[in-house]
Amino acid sequence: MTPRRVLLIVSGGIAAYKSLELVRLLAKAGMAVTCVLTEGGARFVTALSLQALSGEAVHTDLWSLTGESEMGHIALSRSADLVVVAPASADLLARMAAGLASDLATTLLLATDTAVLVAPAMNVRMWTHPATVGNLATLAARGVAVVGPDEGVMACNEFGPGRLAEPPAILAAILARLDARPGDGAGRLAAAPAHGPDHGPDGRALAGRHALVTAGPTHEAIDPVRYLANRSSGRQGTAIAEALAALGARVTLVSGPTALPDPPGVDVRRVESARQMLAACEAALPADVVVCAAAVGDWRAAEVAAHKMKKTPDAAPPTLVLVANPDILATLARPGASRPPLVVGFAAETQDLERHAVAKRLRKGCDWIVANDVGAHTGTMGGDSNTVLLVTAHGTEAWDRMPKHEVARRLALRIADALAEAPPAG
Ligand code: C5P
Repeated sequence: MTPRRVLLIVSGGIAAYKSLELVRLLAKAGMAVTCVLTEGGARFVTALSLQALSGEAVHTDLWSLTGESEMGHIALSRSADLVVVAPASADLLARMAAGLASDLATTLLLATDTAVLVAPAMNVRMWTHPATVGNLATLAARGVAVVGPDEGVMACNEFGPGRLAEPPAILAAILARLDARPGDGAGRLAAAPAHGPDHGPDGRALAGRHALVTAGPTHEAIDPVRYLANRSSGRQGTAIAEALAALGARVTLVSGPTALPDPPGVDVRRVESARQMLAACEAALPADVVVCAAAVGDWRAAEVAAHKMKKTPDAAPPTLVLVANPDILATLARPGASRPPLVVGFAAETQDLERHAVAKRLRKGCDWIVANDVGAHTGTMGGDSNTVLLVTAHGTEAWDRMPKHEVARRLALRIADALAEAPPAG
């Protein structure tokens, strides 16, 4: 069998050193790797190191490829089963979003008909800047998949999201993309089903299915140090991701900031804002089921101040102007080719639970609503147990109060039942 081929574009940034480890892991996994090094990337790693690890010539120059003896750039971009950009700098993502072809890397990215996975790495302020957020959303809407970034202390001594995902996590994301359809053309655009024969039934009810889950709150920046948030702990959504994985599903959990560890065996994408959450969800499609358990902020600041807003003595406090966030659940539930066959939303209400939940199911266009009473007296927000109503097209079921992990287990079983007859998404 011919090895699967990854075209790895290494752009600039201190994290570029991790691309060497990624090449080593890819080679160890039996994949052929062709590396393209940008001018910025070459300031951090050498073509010689990438060449030694990949065993192939490293491409750096747009113009050297036009010669008779070399592969043309279009052929280079199409010879791969997947194009991976790791690290993907803010600059490269911006140029991708704008459709520029100003160097070899961007020319390949513009010319390719192969699926693209990016692993962003940059300073936390750059990552949360509306320009980058917008660029990511543009790329996600075009089907570009994203892995990471991780959160942590960065080379610039700041803390937050922006660190390149670790090479094993990038490898896992690459394998997941490639395994979406084994063999040749694995990553061709529009040919990445959630389910592939190699994920075939392993006896568990959700084997071969892809489940997408949102969890946690969102943080909507006001300035570099302040944000709007809510009290969601992310426990219920994370428990659902875990329960779906336990039934054999491949699970992508798109989580807002929480204090919870990543559940084992689940592909966790950490995001901050509603717009990042939507972009990450769209990048993870197709899916057989989506469960939107996140408490997404309804509004964000119309303008995010570039610098910490100053208290000025005697001046009136500033006025915060808010704009609506996208509704992730309603967006994913919209009829269309990429709509998952089963879309499940949550309704957190403090009164008149069933009436609101029934109306919400219709308004959002989803199939089921899991409704819970989050009134202060219930202890549900941040607590360990939950009392829910399951509202479907067939009516409403009231479940007893039970631990959140048991709600998750029962919901996962119901999802498995519902999908039993459905053809796999893709
Ligand atoms: O409109 P409301 O916030 O009550 O709806 C709750 C449901 O919608 C939850 O499933 C939540 O995850 C989802 N939601 C969303 N995006 C928003 C707001 C809510 O996905 N912006």
